Amino acid sequence: MAQTGEMGNQRDGSVLDGLDSSSMTGLYWYLAMLACIGGFLFGYDTAVIGSVLDFVPYKLSPFWTGYLVAGASLGAAVGALAAGPLTDKFGRKSLLMADASIYAVGALLSALTVNAAMLISSRTLIGLAVGADSAIATAYIAEFAPKGRRGQLSIIQQWMITVGILVSYLIALLIFAVAPGAAKSADWRIILGVGAVPAVIAVLLRARMPESPRWLIQQGRFADTSTALQKLGVDVSEEEVRRSAGVIEEAEADKHDERKRLWTPGVKRALAVVSVFFVFQQITGINVPFYYGPQLLGGLFKQPGDSAVHAAMAGLVSAAILGAVNVIATYFGFRWIDKMGRRPLALLGYAGMAVFMLVAAAGVAWLTGTPKVVVVMVGFSIFIASFAMGVGGTGWLLQGEVFPTAVRGRAAATGAGVNWIANFALIEAFPIMQAAFGLPTVMVILSALSVLAIVFISKFLPETKSLSVEEVVAVFDRQAAGEPITPARAHA
Ligand code: BGC
Repeated sequence: MAQTGEMGNQRDGSVLDGLDSSSMTGLYWYLAMLACIGGFLFGYDTAVIGSVLDFVPYKLSPFWTGYLVAGASLGAAVGALAAGPLTDKFGRKSLLMADASIYAVGALLSALTVNAAMLISSRTLIGLAVGADSAIATAYIAEFAPKGRRGQLSIIQQWMITVGILVSYLIALLIFAVAPGAAKSADWRIILGVGAVPAVIAVLLRARMPESPRWLIQQGRFADTSTALQKLGVDVSEEEVRRSAGVIEEAEADKHDERKRLWTPGVKRALAVVSVFFVFQQITGINVPFYYGPQLLGGLFKQPGDSAVHAAMAGLVSAAILGAVNVIATYFGFRWIDKMGRRPLALLGYAGMAVFMLVAAAGVAWLTGTPKVVVVMVGFSIFIASFAMGVGGTGWLLQGEVFPTAVRGRAAATGAGVNWIANFALIEAFPIMQAAFGLPTVMVILSALSVLAIVFISKFLPETKSLSVEEVVAVFDRQAAGEPITPARAHA
């Protein structure tokens, strides 16, 4: 029983050890999928706007066009930052259910919108759910997952994001193909509204998932903890839960001081590293092909005489190909993250992004016709594959694994908030930069930012592969005390 418990970073010898060491069953995969339905909606709802942008019948300035694409991201920043304290107070499950309900309402309001302001507000509302979900999903998983499978279960979140992005293009393609004449009337509304379907399913299924046993025990709800653990296949009585909780309570007698102590220089450093990692994850341009892709690629590949719907569909086909590359490449991230480690995979990822963004830029600047289509698509595909293998899932994984449990909620939520602010900033700035410098120059700037990310990772990201949460925190503490970052040191 004497194993490192997750509660308050204490060795609590608790009934939760049973959970940590239990073998993986289908239930664990199912619960991880349920937690990550929000990841699917994150992907769907953030990417879907690019498909309908040309058909929304409201006159918008470049700023508001940028906002329409990025409004969900701004809402997401607020949602993520609010999620930390809210989930500590009301639980993981309640917040995940609330998120799914907001997703549903936001999608319906977007579909039924009567003017630009309503559409912009609905997109911001959806963003609240996206952000809150992104801050909590992996924390919920971390709190029930058997220790040895936490990484794999967490990467399901990234996978679901990529599937959501791909499905958004496929749904748009299907609807435009069925009713090309209704692109400016019914189609764009249906495409936005379809997001309500998985959201409602998520509300219904999440209502039956167990609350996080770790959160319940912290709240002193021992009978509920025992029920939740039983649902997870760990048979313990209320009395046994109460006994282990006593140990934890004693250890956490002065919670206020404990909290202060837990925000050690190492934890602050971990938060800084996760935040900067997330800034680079966004400002290197991954969402340019995803959010603006259908519009951008549609313009590039448009043949003379094509109608707007046909140009959009050409763009959607290419975006769907990129979306499929993203889904497939994420699988390799999933396979390699625990074998190769975070550092090498992230370095490789950014190197690929830097090189292939340049290749795509060369295609845009210097080629025409079929060679242009081929070079731009190959460039973007390998850029995205590099991100998917080394950068996307790695960011969300680090956000879940580098903080001690006592501050995980707030620290992870802050990291997620930074991710969404950076996401918003790039997407908002993109059309303005494109108008000012032209697309190829903007792409060269994005490539240079990937090179900067490589410098940052080499200098500041320690290897955290196969370390326990406590060991990870210790690595950051040593780093904060001035020890150099080398993979060998990180393992020491
Ligand atoms: C990023 C998203 C991005 C997605 C692409 C995620 O890790 O946070 O901004 O759209 O990956 O797959």
